[in-house]
This record gives sequence, C-alpha cells and structure tokens, in this order.
Amino acid sequence: MAGGRGQFSSRFGFVMAASGSAVGLGNIWGFPTQAASNGGAAFLLVYLLLAFLLAYPALMAELILGRHAHSNSVTALRKVSGSRLAAGIGAATGIAGFTVAGLILSFYAIVAGWMVAFCLSAVAELSGNQALASWLTSFGLWRNVFFLLLFLALTIAIVSAGVHDGIERWSRRLMPALLVTLIVLVAYVLTLEGAMTGLEVYLMPDFSRALSAQLILNALGSAFFSLSLGVGTMLIYGSYLSDEENLPLLGGIVTLVDVSIAVLAGFMVLPAMYVALHNGVEIFTASGVLISEDTLIFTVLPELFATIGLPGIVVSFTFFFLMSIAALTSSISMLEVPVAYVTEEYNAERHAAAWVIGGIIATIGCAILLNFDTLFGFIVTVTTRYSQPLLGFMFCVYAGWVWRRNSLLQELRKGYPQVEEGLFWKIWPWYVRVVCPLIILGIFAQSLFA
Ligand code: PFF
Repeated sequence: MAGGRGQFSSRFGFVMAASGSAVGLGNIWGFPTQAASNGGAAFLLVYLLLAFLLAYPALMAELILGRHAHSNSVTALRKVSGSRLAAGIGAATGIAGFTVAGLILSFYAIVAGWMVAFCLSAVAELSGNQALASWLTSFGLWRNVFFLLLFLALTIAIVSAGVHDGIERWSRRLMPALLVTLIVLVAYVLTLEGAMTGLEVYLMPDFSRALSAQLILNALGSAFFSLSLGVGTMLIYGSYLSDEENLPLLGGIVTLVDVSIAVLAGFMVLPAMYVALHNGVEIFTASGVLISEDTLIFTVLPELFATIGLPGIVVSFTFFFLMSIAALTSSISMLEVPVAYVTEEYNAERHAAAWVIGGIIATIGCAILLNFDTLFGFIVTVTTRYSQPLLGFMFCVYAGWVWRRNSLLQELRKGYPQVEEGLFWKIWPWYVRVVCPLIILGIFAQSLFA
C-alpha cells in the first residue's frame, strides 16, 4: 500500500465500488430502449461482444495504470512516461480527465436530483400531501436547485469520509440494495398484463438492424460511457487496489456486473413500457419509435404507475429509489477523481478538498440549470461524446505504447504470477496498442460527422 493513501479492504469492496461507478443511469434508462429499437437480442449480442472485446481492454488499461502508480491519474501517466514530452502530455491528459469527470458530475447530479425528487414524491403522495408531491415532480427551478445541492451534498459526504469508510462502505451497502430492488421490480412488472409483449420486443433478434456499422459504433459509445471510461475513475479505483489482486479477473467481473445489470434492467423497462401501452399510455413518438430517455423516465413510467393505483405509488418509490442509488454510486466515483488529485498533489485535507471541489461543481450545476436549454445538451455532448472517447484513447496509448512492456508485465504478475501463460497476455497487449485506439478514433470520427 502506498503511503497514507486509502485502499479497498477487500476484493468484494472493490468490485462493489467499481461496478457501482459503472452501473448508473446509463444502464437503466439508456441500454434497454436502445436495445428494443435496434434489433432486440441481436443488439444485446453486439453489445456483449463489444463490452468484452473492446471496453474491457480499455478498462484494464486504466486499472493497471492506476494500480501500478498507486496514485491519481496525473501522476500515474507521468510515472510510466520515458520522456519529458510524454510526461507533460500524460499530466495534461490526467488534468483534462478530472475536469471532464467534474463536468459530467455537474449534469449527472441534476438528473440524479430529479430521481430523488420523484422518489420523495411517492412518499409525499402516500402520506396524503398532494401539494408537496406535485411540487416534487414539477421541474421548477427551485426544486431543481434544491435537489441538485442535496444530491451533491450526499456525494460529497461519502467521498469526504475516504476510500474505505466512505466509498467502499457505501458501495457495499448500496449495490446489493440496487440488485435486490431491480430483481423485485422485474418480478413485479412481469406479472402485469402486457408485459410479455415487451419481453418479445426486447428479445426478438433482428440481425439486419443490429449489424449496421452505425449501430455498432453507437453500442461501443454506450459501452464506454457505461464502464465510466476515459476520465480516470477506473484508474483511481485501481490505484486503491492491493498488489495481491488479479487485475484481469477483477476487471472481467466488473464488466460482467455492468453488462448484466443493463440486460436485467431491460427485463423491467421494456415490459413496463408495454404494460403502459396496454393501460392506454402512449409509448411511441410521432415518428413511430419507442419513447426513450427523459420522456420515458419522467412521463411514460409515472403515467404507468398512476394507472396501477396504490401499488403504483410503491412501485414508483422503488423505481426512483433504484435510480437514485445507481446515480449515487456513479457520482462518488466522478468526484473522487479531482479530490484524489488535489489531496495527493497539494497535500490538501480530503474533507476540505471534497467540499470545495463539490462546491465548484454545484456552482456549475446551478449555472446549467439557469441556462438549461443552451448548456445542458452542450455539456453532455462535449463530455460524453467527444471527451470520453478521446481521453480513453490516450489511456490506451499510454498503457500500450508509452509504458515499457516489461514494467507492465511485472505489474500484472503481482497478483497473477502465471499471467504470461494465459490468454490475457497473448491478446490484450496488442489489443490495447492497436485495436482499441483505432476503434476509439473510429467512434470519434463517427461522432464528429453524425
Ligand atoms: N457509468 C455511468 C453510467 O452508466 O451511468 C456514467 C459514468 C460514471 C460516466 C462515471 C463517467 C464516469 F466517470
């Protein structure tokens, strides 16, 4: 363990924290509808393949770099560099990474705040306070600001408690709660009338749609966002791992958990949409495609919950509770990236660093809320569509080209002495050198012209 840095106390703690970062709003509201509109089971297959063949190697690059340096991304990229130029570009990449992590958090926390508000609205409704319930679902400025700040305060409180007492402890509690909640919701939704049609739409394979080049690139973009790649969250979590851990195995488990939760969420969201249709709620847009994203979450599903009476309020609470947890375990990983940098580089105290950086992010979040129409979409696009793939590209280049192969092998051997004999060492090094950077550039080029 490095100096006085935090460390995950167990493999389970790490897996919960890293999959907590990966499993977020993207998995539950993004993946299912994307799959349904793009070839169902065929899309699922493409997504699984891409997650394991391309996102997993990129995830490994971050985990290995982080564990090797046992430090933040700026120092980690500097450390593997052989020249001043490479060290300088590495440091700039790390700084860009934590800036982007902070920017993602500033819009993510707004959406997460809505989830918390909708969750509490169900409680207000159950207790008969209709006025409060409608305010909570109203999208007014003050409600938005209040819940943005509340959600960020929760995130800051967890991060400021440290790696073991904050991030690990809360991920260990929240992730099992998320899984149980999701399973309960799936089981309930599948009993409702209309659910089976949704299941068919979700699972009917249509290869003609899923195999288009555009779609494969889209699926890859989602896999990158979904595994939280490119901004240094996985690098920093890797840096808190002990040298005894087998990295390829742990990265594989995190990828598997992330993909499984996305797939499982499909068994809830798609059937729920067709239950809604059965109950008279519109689930298609004017152009005939399934409604997705914010309209799905904040309009279609609440309308569905309203059609099932009292149980609907309980289901609504459970659903938004699930979304809030998924968002919280992701947002703590985003805040940890700049906090780790400031505490390590400037010897700042963690508690103060978390509150000051959190405060800056809250200010940006408020600025977005005040100029929602111009800023929200812009920041989402700049960070997730352009910055994440580009920075992911840089991490792969550093792991594959800049870092000396021998030193990298030694790092992997630490928790996996026979690594050279396994498949991982035969495939991964050239994957991360050639295949990953090329594919990421492909996504990037595509997103420029899309
Ligand atoms: N992986 C998260 C999701 O699927 O919602 C989003 C995310 C988390 C992106 C952390 C970036 C990040 F650093």
